[in-house]
Amino acid sequence: MDSSPVGIFDSGLGGLSVLREVRALLPHEPLIYLADSRYAPYGDKPERFVTARTLQVCRWLVAQGCKALVIACNTATMHAVQALRSELTVPVIGVEPGLKPAAAISRSKVVGVLATANTLKSAKFNRLLATLAPESRYLCAAGHGLVALIEQGDVSSAVIREKLDAYLGPMLEAGADTLVLGCTHYPFLSATIREMVGDRLTLIDTGAAIARQLARKLVEFDMAADPAKAAGIRYLSTKDAAHLHEMAAALLQVEAHAETVVIEPAPALEDGPLTA
Ligand code: DGL
Repeated sequence: MDSSPVGIFDSGLGGLSVLREVRALLPHEPLIYLADSRYAPYGDKPERFVTARTLQVCRWLVAQGCKALVIACNTATMHAVQALRSELTVPVIGVEPGLKPAAAISRSKVVGVLATANTLKSAKFNRLLATLAPESRYLCAAGHGLVALIEQGDVSSAVIREKLDAYLGPMLEAGADTLVLGCTHYPFLSATIREMVGDRLTLIDTGAAIARQLARKLVEFDMAADPAKAAGIRYLSTKDAAHLHEMAAALLQVEAHAETVVIEPAPALEDGPLTA
């Protein structure tokens, strides 16, 4: 039995959609949730920055005593999971857009994929696409601006609907019947997407699959916590604990006692100033 925490990390609030699934499956596992909101979004930052910052944050989580890490961010996983696994000694569970489950479910064999620009550009994502059976078509769109709005707590405004309409309209016209939510922020848009498209698109969110993968890894490495003991969650933000507290209440309906932490100095953004 190992009562050390599992670290769950995202550029910001998106990983809360993964935390929700981990909590539901493994309520006895102590968790640390870290939102690097000071530097969100990662999706349009230089790749070098995403890789270096992910390594920096994950080293910090290991130094806090985390026994395993969940990279609850597709963008960070795409760019940094290999480096993390070769450097860190703890198990690292990453996320990736659910293209395979989408292809298995789609009847029209036209699958929409909404993810960040950095995820769609990454070599890892493109290798994944290349391994898939050719009978399905994948229509990929970069959800520019969506993460920044969700970070502010906006999951249903007219602005966000207009953006979604621009991304999903062409997918529907091309016959898509399935939509991969390829960014962990996007499950928080599910209700709005449903209102907009009804049952024309089946939404694919891999949060529950990630939780199951974490459970398997904890057993494999003999790291699971005592199921008879209650476990807490520490919510940490690199930007603003009060905002994380407010957003956890709005998005997950939980009372999160959040703390602000400093993980600095961040790697230089060589390609230009911070946009966040
Ligand atoms: N939640 C993230 C993802 O899954 C990151 C989004 C961002 O920071 O742009 O890709």
